[in-house]
Amino acid sequence: RDEPLVLGIETSCDETGVGIVRGNTLLADAIASSVDQHARFGGVVPEVASRAHLEAMAPTVERALAEAGVAFTDVDAFAVTAGPGLPGALMVGVAAAKAYALSLGKPLYGVNHLAAHVCVDQLEHGPLPKPCVALLVSGGHSSLLLVPDVASDVRSLGATVDDAAGEAFDKVARVLDLGFPGGPVIDRLAREGDPDAIAFPRGKYNDGTYDFSFSGLKTAVARWVEAKERAGEPVPVADVAASFQEAVVDVLTQKALKVCKDNDVRDLLIGGGVAANSRLRAMAAERCEAAGVRLRVPRPKLCTDNGAMVAALGSELVASGASPSDLRLPADSSLPI
Ligand code: KG4
Ligand code: ZN
Repeated sequence: RDEPLVLGIETSCDETGVGIVRGNTLLADAIASSVDQHARFGGVVPEVASRAHLEAMAPTVERALAEAGVAFTDVDAFAVTAGPGLPGALMVGVAAAKAYALSLGKPLYGVNHLAAHVCVDQLEHGPLPKPCVALLVSGGHSSLLLVPDVASDVRSLGATVDDAAGEAFDKVARVLDLGFPGGPVIDRLAREGDPDAIAFPRGKYNDGTYDFSFSGLKTAVARWVEAKERAGEPVPVADVAASFQEAVVDVLTQKALKVCKDNDVRDLLIGGGVAANSRLRAMAAERCEAAGVRLRVPRPKLCTDNGAMVAALGSELVASGASPSDLRLPADSSLPI
């Protein structure tokens, strides 16, 4: 009870998230998503997302406070995603957090969205080992991070050079007419398909870097499907889904374990929306076991964008004695790690 009560706000993409933690104890994780409003466009529309954040902000804060059973005036510190993300969307959260902090005269911590994705696991599995490696895979990012200390030292070792992993799932789902977001549907369909049916390319597999490339894979799937359609043959959707998913997951786990090995790190964390993928979890578990690496994956609700992750990192910053941001804190759409 002595630990400070931290409220975190996340608005970098299409989820308005408000989380409340005390230390590493999660008290509330309220979410309002505008995903349904983007579905017919096949991807997130920035202006639509910003407006939805504006409407959802205050009600989501109210819901989080009620869920935690605390009063607004009980909050000891505020944290907000300062970037990276959609500029207009970030601005809504940052402006709200500044107003809340100013109104209570409490400190405000601007946090990096990727570091928050890593830190959230502390709410589920306790303090992060120092160092650990993090693989973050979502619709907006695919990154490999070396994390000596999540509050003060997070290093980017690799990232996608084109599409994010989740974006590849979404685009392939579009090719297969499966709706948006595509990840969960492909995951489900792939269970009935043969992952070895089609040999899709694995970009940058052995290039010695920790970077990813998924746009060649996406194009290869589109070409393969087009060729079938042109020939008037039925498209074996489950086999395509399984073979595509296998290619993505193979590259992600191969590179993640390479970072662990090259840096002699024994703990791997996987986060982001794609961490919900059942094949990624299974292959990562298998390869970690073989390499003597411990695997940490937060539960799905904590893997996708949420406010709890921001509160978790805010709490870590408070505990580490970091200085708060000042009220000029900018929203920075390309905030580096
Ligand atoms: O982290 P997230 O909710 O939002 C950001 O993009 O930041 O991630 C959403 C992404 C989408 O691209 C979605 O298709 C993907 O995560 N995704 C999945 C699965 N569940 C969600 N991809 C593969 N398999 C899944 N089960
Ligand atoms: Zn994210």
